[in-house]
Amino acid sequence: MQIGQKIIRLDSVDSTNNYTANLIKVGGLVSGAVIMADEQFAGKGQRGAVWLTKPGENLTFSVFLDNVNLSVDRQFVLTQFISLVLVELLDRFGIEAKIKWPNDIFVRSKKIAGVLIENQLSESTIGRSIIGIGLNVNQMDFGNLSATSIKTETGRSVILMDMLFSFIETFNRHSVLFNSTKRDLLDEKYKTLLYRLGEKANFEDGSGVFTGEIKGVTKEGKLQIQKEDGLHTYQLKEVKFL
Ligand code: BTN
Repeated sequence: MQIGQKIIRLDSVDSTNNYTANLIKVGGLVSGAVIMADEQFAGKGQRGAVWLTKPGENLTFSVFLDNVNLSVDRQFVLTQFISLVLVELLDRFGIEAKIKWPNDIFVRSKKIAGVLIENQLSESTIGRSIIGIGLNVNQMDFGNLSATSIKTETGRSVILMDMLFSFIETFNRHSVLFNSTKRDLLDEKYKTLLYRLGEKANFEDGSGVFTGEIKGVTKEGKLQIQKEDGLHTYQLKEVKFL
């Protein structure tokens, strides 16, 4: 699975994920195509949130993958893989990042990248996937948001296109990890990069605020937290990091 054979750069668009979905609908978009925009005026975040970034300062792009061929109950593999690619990419810039479950990329306690994966299913298999990525590159001022960027961390500006090419190269170099034979290795790598793994930290679930310790994730991508009364597993939205 290689990406970047086709790159489309747009000045301004509502959302690169929407634009990619529309291109897929009309046909002719090759698998592995990367669609980036200098400005998104209706960028989408996870859970219906908006994704706001300063035009021209950060990377906002989508990757189209056809024939993903993952069963729906294993769709977490895609989340793991893309998170890992982003951590590896940042590592090339000397930035030590962690994965805040399920796929926020954090540097210490600040978000540097977010991922929105939109899958198109055929029966119980993921056929097509649009992987939307927002990566903070040159923005320095995030107001009251707890966010950071490559420039904030390193003091150096990066040309957005160079950053995109580095992403594509990192993705392609690691793509073997997406093979079904490498799932255990991917699980292991993802786990070791989890933000707050093995640390006592505060969380909130349906029964209130508690102190617990992240132990890992299940194959389906549920978060495992050790509480005083035992090991609990959580789906998205069932637990909050405090
Ligand atoms: C999040 O952390 O909430 C996910 C953010 C994903 C943002 C990216 S920017 C490119 C792509 N197009 C969108 O509309 N959203 C994703």
